[in-house]
Amino acid sequence: MFFMKRISSVFMLFFAIACNNAKHQEPVKNDSVTQISVTAYQQEVKGKKVDLYVLTNKNKMSVYVTNYGGRIVSVNVPNKSGSFTDVVLGYDSLKHYFDRKENYFGALIGRYGNRIAKGKFELDGKTYQLAINNAPNTLHGGPTGFHNQVWDAKQLDSQSLELSYVSKDMEEGYPGMLTVKVLYRLTDDNSIEISYQATTDKKTILNLTNHSYFNLNGAGSGTINDHLLTINADKFTPVDSTLIPTGVLADVAGTAFDFRKPRAIGDSVNSNSEQIKNGKGYDHNFVLNRKSVSDMELAATVYSKVSGIKLEVFTQEPGIQFYGGNFLDSSLLGKKELHYSFRTAFCLETQHFPDAPNRISFASTVLVPGKSYNTKTIYKFSVQ
Ligand code: GLA
Repeated sequence: MFFMKRISSVFMLFFAIACNNAKHQEPVKNDSVTQISVTAYQQEVKGKKVDLYVLTNKNKMSVYVTNYGGRIVSVNVPNKSGSFTDVVLGYDSLKHYFDRKENYFGALIGRYGNRIAKGKFELDGKTYQLAINNAPNTLHGGPTGFHNQVWDAKQLDSQSLELSYVSKDMEEGYPGMLTVKVLYRLTDDNSIEISYQATTDKKTILNLTNHSYFNLNGAGSGTINDHLLTINADKFTPVDSTLIPTGVLADVAGTAFDFRKPRAIGDSVNSNSEQIKNGKGYDHNFVLNRKSVSDMELAATVYSKVSGIKLEVFTQEPGIQFYGGNFLDSSLLGKKELHYSFRTAFCLETQHFPDAPNRISFASTVLVPGKSYNTKTIYKFSVQ
């Protein structure tokens, strides 16, 4: 274990040289493996031991995960210059997930990723009221959602980590005792596979996702407006001003939401469209074009020519939330004390649709006892 967690000091020294002046430059690449001290994560939270786990593959790609919120903390991937870039936002130390403004970085989100209107839903004639933590709605499982829980961690080998969590009946207002397992696996083709599995003892609703914030030029290296995005979706779900879907599935054709061919994220991000205004930029669910209901299919691709890094997202889910970092601002300091400014990261959160429990026309998020919730998403990196 000690060995797996150890970062080679030679490696660190080499990349420390590249750890330069990247504060506030746009867009530059931030070629460096983030050095995170494991001890900065070793702390007791809610009576449970928090730690930092490192997965490494044969290409020396590494993924750092903490069992606090099941968060991906760093993802160091090969870039076109032959070095590594840390492509996710996060903090150098566990304490910043408590004392800094944005606390969804890299987290496992549950029980319900995204919003539920007014925090209310009905199951078998009974109304359930959830916490309103994103007025007037509930967001990402509520204030003590899975992102703020300490998961039990088992490092299975140098490339996989199993996290489990038992959520009590009525925790955050959701019925049923829910037993959740998430497997993070770093494969030798530079993919991060996230497999979610859950069972319940009472009928409930569930929509799990991961909330990594990516910048393919390196976390804290400036805008993502130049990144080329492709989303395999002919339709998206327009939202009201509180980011709840109206229920309509709208065509992306001819709108700011048409990413069917590679297009710079910044192209229409400031357009006058009502939807862009409602989202304060991009913060929308896309209806993925699927060949089958639940096979693993390509949902989105992002590419940055600055670093040469390409990200492909594969999923079994029907939707993906493309969020363009509209709530980030330069007062937010991340790893290496770099500024995580407005729109300097994007999220591609695979999911069932927002507010599905209140929309009969959206795919159901109900989980019943005796059935197992199983879904998988892959973030695959390559250099082009
Ligand atoms: C999601 C939401 C956004 C925002 C972020 C976290 O992506 O859709 O509106 O809340 O999470 O800041």
